[in-house]
Amino acid sequence: MLNKRHTEPHHEGLRVLFSREQIAERVQEIGAQISRDYAGQALVLVGVLKGAAFFLTDLARAISLDCTFDFVAVSSYGKSTKTSGAVKLIKDLDHPIEGKVVVLVEDILDTGVTLSYLCKLLRQHNPRALVIATCLDKPARRLERIDADYVGFTIKNQFVIGYGMDFAERYRNLPDICLMPPNQRD
Ligand code: IMP
Ligand code: MG
Repeated sequence: MLNKRHTEPHHEGLRVLFSREQIAERVQEIGAQISRDYAGQALVLVGVLKGAAFFLTDLARAISLDCTFDFVAVSSYGKSTKTSGAVKLIKDLDHPIEGKVVVLVEDILDTGVTLSYLCKLLRQHNPRALVIATCLDKPARRLERIDADYVGFTIKNQFVIGYGMDFAERYRNLPDICLMPPNQRD
């Protein structure tokens, strides 16, 4: 499907993998599922900056439980379309999560290196529960043994941009999830 929304010039010619309507519908379903699974409990949503920002804010509004947010940021070394394996925490939690039900919210679970690192780190703070919600899952690329509890969409080994996801920091603001044309990648 080619996107023809003329209000978005930098969107032109990009193939849309998941439209904003499909994303919105799926986020509502996940929010409803989380609300059922943790009925009566308070949640802390921990977003991984910057990619998970849109997913977290949409998901939070689809959850009908008492919710607070926090954010962490990590840097991974290596080229922009690859994860090198080394992860470093560059922004820690602002508030303690001990005894809390934590939903770690990520844009995309790829090799799993980032989320296994973060899970290990967050577990050291003794949360009551720790679960993962990821907008996208690319199981074919997994290097670490890790799965998400809530997955928006499972995709093949494709590089995607939009809805928070970037290529060299660009395209995060595309409202749809699009495929990055291979000839424009490094
Ligand atoms: P992992 O540590 O390999 O699981 O990498 C996860 C991170 O790599 C994600 O949070 C993204 O920032 C980035 N990433 C992986 N695949 C893509 C993609 O297709 N588009 C944009 N970013 C991606
Ligand atoms: Mg990311």
